[in-house]
Amino acid sequence: MLRKKRLHVMLVLGARPQIIKSAQLIHLAKKNSEIEFDLVHTGQHYDYEMSKVFFDELKLPDAIANLEVGSGTHAWQTAQIMIRLEKITKFKKPDLIIVPGDTNSTLAGALVATKQNIPIAHMEAGARSYDMSMPEEVNRRLTDHCSSLLFTPTANCTKNLLKEGIDKDRIFQTGDTMYDMVLQQLPKVRKNIIIRELGLVSKTYALITIHRPENVDDSRNLRSITNSMMQLENITFVFPVHPRTKKQLRKINVYSKLLEKSHIKVIEPLGYHEILKLIQNAKVVLTDSGGIQKEAFWLHTACITLRENTEWIETVHLKVNQLAGADTKKIMEAVNRVDEKGETLRKEPKKLPNLFGEGQASQKVLDAILQYQ
Ligand code: UD1
Repeated sequence: MLRKKRLHVMLVLGARPQIIKSAQLIHLAKKNSEIEFDLVHTGQHYDYEMSKVFFDELKLPDAIANLEVGSGTHAWQTAQIMIRLEKITKFKKPDLIIVPGDTNSTLAGALVATKQNIPIAHMEAGARSYDMSMPEEVNRRLTDHCSSLLFTPTANCTKNLLKEGIDKDRIFQTGDTMYDMVLQQLPKVRKNIIIRELGLVSKTYALITIHRPENVDDSRNLRSITNSMMQLENITFVFPVHPRTKKQLRKINVYSKLLEKSHIKVIEPLGYHEILKLIQNAKVVLTDSGGIQKEAFWLHTACITLRENTEWIETVHLKVNQLAGADTKKIMEAVNRVDEKGETLRKEPKKLPNLFGEGQASQKVLDAILQYQ
């Protein structure tokens, strides 16, 4: 009897959040005998604390190749990933390429696949900010429109895709694979000692992260956000600094000023368990990251989004996330409004709807991929 050929799947990732989004799927795929699975790292993120630490913490296997693309302009980075990845896909000939999220690695992976007529599965499809000046919005829109399988984290994302004319048979509302990870890693988060190490008191500090070009590369916005931190002296800020952010803060001479402030703890980028622990125990999280907004929601901590818009608009409608942009005054007002909302969020988490599914998203992605064969 002829043996059915195993489905050959290649997952392409390269940036910090993509590792988290893919982790559970990688574990499931590696265990599944119906799948031949290859992981390719583009090397978009290369510092230990931007990449390898997550492989170690989440016990992920090494990639079969690291394209070592490193940093560069958007065009250069995307093009270099494409050129280097094409060599591998031509040699390996996968049946399907999976791309998570919305980074330059996502788009490059999708373009290489589509040019070789390899079907694409997009994880976290349908997220929209409707702001085409964000590189991520361009990356995810183009990727969605090249994809054969679109895995959406929320009902709103599904709606966005239908509005753009994407065939409903290609859309699978799986829930959010990042939620799978949060649930799975909670026991390890519980044991993490970062709160003690940093000398923090639970529910009294604010955690802040910024890395988006509109906040970091625009010196006016960067000054405006950091001004709000410096002025809010009655709350401790914990500020893990993304490498891109550190570079810009130094350029505008604000980095040393932040270091001088005793209520601001400037620290290096954190591992996964550490950041989740800090989110869970914060009084409020201020961020421009899409992932951290969701993690704050899952861990029942009030969030202030340092952007004018968000892909996770449902959390704003539920009043657990406030949009403050980069405006000093708005940020300070939002922080001062947190008390009551943060308290409600902690006391009544069960009343929050399961916007992002039940934590089985990666299994659903895998099932849909296997059926696609
Ligand atoms: C990228 C993604 C963004 C994602 C973010 C998570 C794009 C367009 N953006 O943004 O969607 O939310 O990752 O972090 O793909 N750098 C280092 N070490 C590293 C990586 C970067 O020092 O390991 C520095 C370099 O100076 C680099 C800068 O950070 O120029 C920006 O890195 P890049 O990969 O271009 O984008 P991110 O800002 O990390």
